[in-house]
Amino acid sequence: MRLANKATRAPARLIEQTLHCIKAPPPGWRQHRLLASNSIVAMTPSSLIERMAAAGLRPLQLAGRQLLPIVQGGMGVGISAHRLAGSVAALGAWGTIASVDLRRHHADLMARSEKLRDGDEKKAVIVQANQEALSREIRQARAIASGRGLVAVNVMRAVSDYTASVRTALEEGADALVVGAGLPLDLPELAQDHPETALIPILSDARGVSLLWRKWERRQRIPSAIVIEHPAHAAGHLGAARVDDLGDARFDFETVLPAVRRHLRDAGVEGRVPLIAAGGVRRCEDIQRLQSLGADAAQLGTAFVATEECDAHPNFKQVLAEASDEDLVEFTSVAGLPARAVLTPWLRKYLKAEERLQAVAQLKQRCTMAFDCLAQCGLRDGLKGWGQFCIDQRLAAALRGEVTKGLFFRGRGELPFGQQIASVGQLLERLLTPGIPPGTPA
Ligand SMILES: Cc1cc2nc3c(=O)[nH]c(=O)nc-3n(C[C@H](O)[C@H](O)[C@H](O)COP(=O)(O)O)c2cc1C
Ligand code: SF4
Repeated sequence: MRLANKATRAPARLIEQTLHCIKAPPPGWRQHRLLASNSIVAMTPSSLIERMAAAGLRPLQLAGRQLLPIVQGGMGVGISAHRLAGSVAALGAWGTIASVDLRRHHADLMARSEKLRDGDEKKAVIVQANQEALSREIRQARAIASGRGLVAVNVMRAVSDYTASVRTALEEGADALVVGAGLPLDLPELAQDHPETALIPILSDARGVSLLWRKWERRQRIPSAIVIEHPAHAAGHLGAARVDDLGDARFDFETVLPAVRRHLRDAGVEGRVPLIAAGGVRRCEDIQRLQSLGADAAQLGTAFVATEECDAHPNFKQVLAEASDEDLVEFTSVAGLPARAVLTPWLRKYLKAEERLQAVAQLKQRCTMAFDCLAQCGLRDGLKGWGQFCIDQRLAAALRGEVTKGLFFRGRGELPFGQQIASVGQLLERLLTPGIPPGTPA
C-alpha cells in the first residue's frame, strides 16, 4: 500500500470520540445554517485592523482593496459555501466559496435529479443544478459581505465542470478565481473578457510558478496573486506527484517564498503579485514568520472549519477539531493526487482494501454518481495507481455529518482553540494576536 507510515497506527482516541461522543445531528441543521447567516460576528473590521497593526502585520493589497492578511481557503464539497465565505469577507478578510457540487446545499436542486435514471439527461440536470447552486452561493456570500473584504471562488482544475464553473463565477462577478488541483494554464483565455477579476493559481514550488508564468505571459495576463500551498502541512489534495514526495525540502516555505520573490523581481513585478502561504498556519506567530519570509498573507482551511459559520454539519467540525496529527493519514486520491485526511472508520477500511481494489481496477466502469465529477477518475477509468473510491459520495457523506461513512480532509497541527468551535470573528482576532499558543480555548 502507498501510505505514509502513520496509516497503520490506530487512532484510538479519535475513533472512540467519533463513535461515542459525537451527538446526533441537530434536526433541521440546514435550515438553521440559512437562518443564522450574518450572526455571531463578535469583532468589527476596524478592531481587527487595529489588532493587525499592533501585531506588526502588513495588510494584504489585492484587487484595489486593503485586506487583513488572512485568507479562508476554498473547501469542498460544500464546506466553504456562502455563509463561511461571506462571514470572513464581512470582517475585512478574504473568503472563498468552493465551487464543487454545491447543489448539496439546495434541496430543490437535489430534487431535480432524484427521480431520473442514470444517463445523459441526469448528468446534464446535475451539472446545471451545480451551476445554479454556485450562482446562488456567490450572491448570498456577497450579500453577507456587503462590499467588505473579498469573495473568491475556488475551482479545481481536475473537475469536469471546471470550465462551466469558471464561467459562472466570472458572470456572477466573483472578486477572484482561485484554481488548484492541476495547472490552470488556460485560465487567462477563459477569463479574457473579465480583466477586473483577480486570477489566482495554487502552486507548491518555484518550478510550478515558472511554468505557469511563462504560459500566462504569452496570453498577456499574469497572476493577480499566487497561493503557495505546503503539501507537508495542508489538507485535502496536495501539490506533490506522490505521497512519498510530500516532505521534499523543495516545498519548504523558506525555499519557495524567496525563490518566487526573486522570480517576481526578475519579471519586474515585485510588490505587485501578493504571495499567499497555505498549510499548517495556526497562530499569529506563523503569519509573522511567513511575512518575514516574503509572503503577504496566510491561507487557512482546517481552522475555519472549526467555526460556527462554517457551512458543514456540526459533526464535520467536531471530527476535525478533535483529531490530532496522529489521527491523520496521507494516501492517493481518486483524482490521482496525494491527499491528507482524518483516519476515520471508512478511510481505515478503504486503505486496508486499497491494494486489492487497485489490482482489480477495470477500465471504464460507470460513474457511480451519474455526473462524472472528475475529468479523470481512478475508480471510473480503472487507473491502477489511483484511488478506488467515489470521492463525491464520500465528501457528501462527510458534509452531512456521517462520521463513519465520510472522508474528512484535515491539515496538520493543533487548532487555535483546540477542540472548541469559535466564531469567525474570534478566529480572526486570535490569529492577529501574538503570544497565544494553539489549543488555548476562547
Ligand atoms: C475540509 C477541507 C476541504 C478542502 N477542499 C479544498 C478544495 O476543494 N479546493 C482547494 O483548492 N483546497 C481545498 N482545501 C485546502 C484549503 O483550501 C487550504 O489551502 C488548506 O486547508 C490549508 O491548510 P490548513 O488546513 O492546514 O490550514 C480543503 C481543506 C479542507 C480542510
Ligand atoms: S465515480 Fe465518483 S469520483 Fe469518479 S467521476 Fe463519478 S462521481 Fe466523481
